[in-house]
Amino acid sequence: MERIQLSSPHLLGLEGYPREDILAILDTARGFLKVLKQPIPKLPTLRGRTVLNLFFEPSTRTQASFDLAAKRLSADLVNISPKSSSVVKGEHLLDTLRNVEAMRVDAVVVRHRAPGVPHFLARHTRAAVINAGDGAHEHPTQALLDLFTLREHFGDVRGLRVAIVGDVLHSRVARSNIFGLSTLGAEVILVGPPTLVPSEFTRFGNVRVVHRLEDDLLQAVDAVMALRIQKERLEASFFGSLREYHRLYGITRERARRIRGVLMHPGPVNWGVELERGAEEETTTLILDQVTHGVAVRMAILYLLLPPLEG
Ligand code: CP
Repeated sequence: MERIQLSSPHLLGLEGYPREDILAILDTARGFLKVLKQPIPKLPTLRGRTVLNLFFEPSTRTQASFDLAAKRLSADLVNISPKSSSVVKGEHLLDTLRNVEAMRVDAVVVRHRAPGVPHFLARHTRAAVINAGDGAHEHPTQALLDLFTLREHFGDVRGLRVAIVGDVLHSRVARSNIFGLSTLGAEVILVGPPTLVPSEFTRFGNVRVVHRLEDDLLQAVDAVMALRIQKERLEASFFGSLREYHRLYGITRERARRIRGVLMHPGPVNWGVELERGAEEETTTLILDQVTHGVAVRMAILYLLLPPLEG
């Protein structure tokens, strides 16, 4: 598989990330998706390389898919979680990094509640740092797998109309998707209450904000990305109640029937809040395709950031 040189040794976010690099990752992921469909979905490409998963916040999809991606490429993998590490004894993040670096890891996949932690680590390590979600800031690998899913379904992202519905304010997934979709030439409609949809993104010419989830919109867009309500990051009352939120912005079975395009969600879903259970059966739903594609996209990221060892 062709190995294109990315312009940065790290993947920290999609704000300002070059279009050519996004396309290189998506093209490479296409090849790996084919590998994943083979009877033995494994390659020797990263033999001798070591990937460290450093997850300070819970994760199912991102951590498991980086885990699988590393193993499918024959890299060695170490998982560190705060509860079972010396972080509970008060070890500073930088000391943790220096110690794991002394074990010669090649890539650090980090998720942390504080925005900017991956950027901080990238300044202090020779390893490739991959942002697996930093607070409400960015989640670039999720957006890349969302872009990949749209591209696989529609053939191209350019010219698509994508509605991102819900808690944009606290959503790193929304932020990374806004950047990635804008770079690839999609139109983005942010939908939610004024308290949860900041107008700052309208600085991009392709982004607009609406506060009502109208049937006309559901019929006009190619994709509806429902966002998870970030209960753990909501510090004040941003809407009346979860019940009211569901009534105004939830994808109910009835609303799902009106979606002309596809329904997406990054997971985990708060059923009964942003999606009514059963809504996924009423329209074309790509939620599990997103999860499948996550492995291929993360394989592509590891492959492009870590050159295979010689010999
Ligand atoms: N979409 C996503 O980041 O899921 P996890 O929190 O399970 O990794």
